[in-house]
Amino acid sequence: MTFSLGIVGAGQFSGQFAKLFLAHPGVGDVHVTDLLPERAEELVAAEGLSGTFPSYEAMLESKAVDAVAVFTQRWTHGPLVLQGLNAGKHVYSAVPMAITREEIAAIIEAVRATGLTYMMGETSQYNPATVHARDQIADGAFGRLFYAEGDYVHDMDLGFYEAYQYSGGENWKATASYPPLLYPTHSVGGVLGAWQTHAVSVSAIGVRDDRGDGVFDQEISQFGNDFSNATALFEVAGGGSFRTNEFRRVGYPSHIRESRFRFFGTDASMEQLATVSFWQDKKGVKDITELLEPKPTLAPDDPSLEHISPALRAAFTSGSAPVHDRSRLPREFDDLPNGHEGSHHFLVDDFVTAVNTRTLPSVNAWVAARYTLPGIVAHESARQGGARLEIPDFGDAPGI
Ligand SMILES: NC(=O)c1ccc[n+]([C@@H]2O[C@H](COP(=O)([O-])OP(=O)(O)OC[C@H]3O[C@@H](n4cnc5c(N)ncnc54)[C@H](O)[C@@H]3O)[C@@H](O)[C@H]2O)c1
Repeated sequence: MTFSLGIVGAGQFSGQFAKLFLAHPGVGDVHVTDLLPERAEELVAAEGLSGTFPSYEAMLESKAVDAVAVFTQRWTHGPLVLQGLNAGKHVYSAVPMAITREEIAAIIEAVRATGLTYMMGETSQYNPATVHARDQIADGAFGRLFYAEGDYVHDMDLGFYEAYQYSGGENWKATASYPPLLYPTHSVGGVLGAWQTHAVSVSAIGVRDDRGDGVFDQEISQFGNDFSNATALFEVAGGGSFRTNEFRRVGYPSHIRESRFRFFGTDASMEQLATVSFWQDKKGVKDITELLEPKPTLAPDDPSLEHISPALRAAFTSGSAPVHDRSRLPREFDDLPNGHEGSHHFLVDDFVTAVNTRTLPSVNAWVAARYTLPGIVAHESARQGGARLEIPDFGDAPGI
């Protein structure tokens, strides 16, 4: 059984995914559309796709497209996803799910009403540290888990200036100031992808930027934002807490590791740093670095990475780690590029399998809301000087 897919947005990120969707035995034709038609044409030529549509609306009107995959700029997803669901298409969306509580509520309602598949492509879901913690939690190895930390530490100087210029055109500074806490899913999702709970309240602190180069300038920012770094402490259902860092001005080698996680339980704990990871209990320390280390699948100068800033390419060259169980993946993926610590193959397979078997995907709308809404509320908390705010919850997916 196969379905046809329309990719929305032919920028820096979608190319690697177009290749995987096309290779998956559960997908037939793959089309693409972009506001800049030359980008869509280029992607068709590079990946051998079936063709372009002149607009997203034209794609949604077409009976030749069963599902859409949204790879547009990060603040645009909510309305585009809703439009897709309301047109009767299954939807895969790059992160984040949306940037307001209302958009999230509307997506959940549309998924409930239509019964269509929605999935958010959160790469941390398959980050080796999250996968390992998830396995260990399932085995009870931590004892009672009561605290975790998730960081997305990516300095603007390490590829983001170029990426925002490519993405935003002349007015790129207006969007390069995108609030760090409105991009919360790599840190929150990496914690909650392992720890089966959800955030119920938060207090967050933002650091006002002082570089003075017009990025993170409230006057120029489309989001009125001048926070470049932010830290949030979340209370979770069932007791305990986790802390996330979203840093965009930080002395840290994000080309080596941009998301990092730590988990603490009553019996054991796990800590990940840039180049090493450890499992600890009351007796001692075990080095688990090897287990979590993704193997490279692509050279950084591969022509398919042409549109990606050299400083960002490491994220697109990493393959699976020993902790990844690839046995359920299609063999067609074996020799294809992967990325973001081996997550791309699993995310594509999750979505395709969910659509074809009419089952819930891993990061379904209800899970995506729990990875995204805490950041939206945390940003509001930071704007209010760290006020402790409650986080609404949409509950578990129906049938869970
Ligand atoms: N680790 C991760 O999960 C990860 C990594 C990188 C990027 N991303 C996400 O992927 C998304 C895309 O990132 P990118 O770097 O490719 O962005 P980009 O700016 O390079 O590309 C976005 C493209 O979408 C097009 N577009 C915008 N609105 C459109 C519309 N209505 N119809 C058709 N095309 C439209 C733009 O013209 C542009 O070419 C972002 O949301 C980003 O958050 C996620």
